[in-house]
Amino acid sequence: MLSRQKLLLHPAAKVTLFMVCLLPFAWLVYRAFSNQLGANPAEALIRATGDWTLRFLCIVLVVTPLRVISSTPALARFRRMLGLFVYFYVVVHLLSYSWFDMGFDVPDIAKDIAKRPFILVGFSAFVLLTPLAATSFNAAIKAMGVKRWQMLHKLVYGIAGLGLLHFFWMRAGKNNFAEVSVYAAIIAVLLGWRVRQYFSKKSLQPRNNGRSQLLN
Ligand code: HEM
Repeated sequence: MLSRQKLLLHPAAKVTLFMVCLLPFAWLVYRAFSNQLGANPAEALIRATGDWTLRFLCIVLVVTPLRVISSTPALARFRRMLGLFVYFYVVVHLLSYSWFDMGFDVPDIAKDIAKRPFILVGFSAFVLLTPLAATSFNAAIKAMGVKRWQMLHKLVYGIAGLGLLHFFWMRAGKNNFAEVSVYAAIIAVLLGWRVRQYFSKKSLQPRNNGRSQLLN
């Protein structure tokens, strides 16, 4: 039997993951074309793509803890693709809203973003995601340097926070916070794990002004 590491390093693993990540989109397209999106298809599309954006954000944030806890370095090779799927779903979410809610009327969209705080927060998350998607290629890492690239990509936690706030605000009018609380709990645990890792690494570092490379 193939070991977990070998299975994840297999050339077909990335293609398989790519297809799996596209399934929610394919399912939505199928439902849209077969009139299975319910009484309000536009709302169903906007909501489903919003949900998938937040789900993929959680999946991206889970990769590093899973890699470290399960000692499976090969998991790292899927992070970039999963990150780009966050961007893919947010773009489809934004396009669904712009098309079905606003008829692609750009001045109207701009007014709506300025008028409704929950849309403004969602839009800010989208704007912040854009440089992360644009710099997710090896050439960008090389041009920026690893340290600066890592700093920029820490923005993903802020983006997850904005995504949550956007969802919370949207649900506030309906007093329905059950789903938001589940996502908030998942993101809080993942962020907590990161903070703990940071402090435990720091406490392991020798007190020699950081000159030793042994523990890096
Ligand atoms: C990282 C960015 C974003 C995330 C994570 C996100 C996530 C979500 C989620 C989870 C929902 C609720 C789905 C549900 O009810 O099940 C939602 C709804 C919505 N989002 Fe976003 N969103 C983001 C960006 C945006 C952007 C850029 C826009 C438009 C400029 C936008 C506009 C909307 C609208 C109009 C709704 C539906 C509100 C309603 O049905 O009353 N979102 N979003």
